[in-house]
Amino acid sequence: MRSTPLAEKIGAQVHDLDLAKPLSDSDVSDLRRLWTRRGVLRFRGQRLDDEQLMSFSRLFGELDHAPMGLATSEQRARLRNPFVTSISNIVEGGRPIGGLGAYEAQWHCDMAYQPEPATGSVLYAVEVPESGGDTSFTSMRGAYEVLPDELKRRVVRLTLKHDASHTSVGGLRPGYDESPDPREAPGAVHPLVVLHPDTREPALLLGRRQLAYVPTLSLEDSEALLDELWSYVARPDDTWTQEWRVGDVLMWDNRSVMHHRNAFDPQARRLMRRTQLKGAPPIAADVAA
Ligand code: OGA
Ligand code: MN
Repeated sequence: MRSTPLAEKIGAQVHDLDLAKPLSDSDVSDLRRLWTRRGVLRFRGQRLDDEQLMSFSRLFGELDHAPMGLATSEQRARLRNPFVTSISNIVEGGRPIGGLGAYEAQWHCDMAYQPEPATGSVLYAVEVPESGGDTSFTSMRGAYEVLPDELKRRVVRLTLKHDASHTSVGGLRPGYDESPDPREAPGAVHPLVVLHPDTREPALLLGRRQLAYVPTLSLEDSEALLDELWSYVARPDDTWTQEWRVGDVLMWDNRSVMHHRNAFDPQARRLMRRTQLKGAPPIAADVAA
């Protein structure tokens, strides 16, 4: 198995591997190490049906049910396979066939608003627009590393509440009410600095900016601290942007990277098939501080 870095501090492209075929144990352990070190892996030229996408994803952990915020209620009712969903702007019979539309998705990691955020996610490109819809990834280990020491000491003992009521494109999830006050927003509370369970390296866990709140601070202080922390996110050295081709498979480590998607022409067609790996409660880094 051969791999090449995609950017200085993040990403690796894996060559010469057909993900539709069974992988050897040594390939799987090499991939796991590369995935947790580099944050995101890319495999090009793949051709996978849903079963093959699930079998590949399962090599890295138990599958999670599709994130329900990404599906409309009709889609949820029609889901035959709860483990593979579509991310798509395509509308059929008046209904979108997948989540997120053609909108920009703000920087986020998946499911941080739940007690056990996903370990990782896999996207397989079936149809891609000629331009737009690029997906960027950034290292949250990198963002933590560059914080001034004083700020590191301050945040390592703090927690953050992650808003569950909105999707990464900013829309209200079914079943939630608008709550413009971050203090009132529903969602899981996690340490702001977490240790990766495999590498034991610290990373910032910011989830997403919208309606996030540091519960031990006043709203004003929480907003100021979060704005300051976000100013260290997505520096060029930590960041890589994927321009999709049909047959690309991307797998990211949700514990150490965040992702962002550009908007694209709503008239163009984009279709990704997606799986997600079941997570665990994040590990606070303050025990090690
Ligand atoms: C996701 C996601 C971005 C994209 O699947 O979690 O944020 O590029 N997708 O579609
Ligand atoms: Mn996402």
